[in-house]
Amino acid sequence: MKIGVIGAGGIGGTIGTLWAKAGHEIFFSSRNPEKLSELITSENTHAGTVADAAKFADVILFACYYWTIDEALSAAGSLDGKILIDATNPYMREDGKIHRVPDASSGLELTAKLPNTKVVKAYNTLPTATFANEAHQSEPYAVFYCGDDSEAKAIVAQLIADSGFAGVDIGDMTQVTHQEPGGVLYNHPMSIEQAQKLTRSLI
Ligand SMILES: NC(=O)c1ccc[n+]([C@@H]2O[C@H](COP(=O)([O-])OP(=O)(O)OC[C@H]3O[C@@H](n4cnc5c(N)ncnc54)[C@H](OP(=O)(O)O)[C@@H]3O)[C@@H](O)[C@H]2O)c1
Repeated sequence: MKIGVIGAGGIGGTIGTLWAKAGHEIFFSSRNPEKLSELITSENTHAGTVADAAKFADVILFACYYWTIDEALSAAGSLDGKILIDATNPYMREDGKIHRVPDASSGLELTAKLPNTKVVKAYNTLPTATFANEAHQSEPYAVFYCGDDSEAKAIVAQLIADSGFAGVDIGDMTQVTHQEPGGVLYNHPMSIEQAQKLTRSLI
């Protein structure tokens, strides 16, 4: 697939690299694309501006900071008809410190902001180090996802498998707070069996 990465930092760079290894075409983006040379490791990896990544891709991995969401969306331009995988978590930076934003959900906010884009929440529940070091285990870690478009979710489930993890569908976007900060599915690496059992008890 043609995938654009908006926010090619720790999480975006890591997941994009896993997809590139699986054979997908990855366009990493930055406000300073010249900083992305380390991510350009094969013929199917490219780098450029946020707008170029958005234009290139059928699927966007959205992995910038919560407080830069509007700026990143504005730089991207139209994302109509595309799938956007939201990996962001609602933390804010204030006085040099990062803190959770109470009652905020970036998944719900992006779904409302982008009515013509198929938003799927995924890749936000595990730390970057787990994605970087634990892909393609014989018993892969669960990666939770949710969203309102079933075809988009099927594509994201395949992308999660291609990156070396096991996708667990928790339902439509109304379920997203279970997998965002404060939710029971957030930041608890678990097997697919544990994840499915826990998910059944929630939804
Ligand atoms: N760290 C984790 O373990 C982890 C795990 C899951 C999810 N997340 C979530 O993923 C997101 C990124 O976290 P990270 O740890 O990967 O951070 P990071 O390594 O610091 O990367 C942040 C990225 O955001 C981009 N960015 C910043 N301002 C932007 C703007 N105005 N427009 C477009 N892009 C902008 C930066 O790109 P340039 O500066 O190059 O433009 C950079 O690539 C956060 O929402 C975080 O909560 C983090």
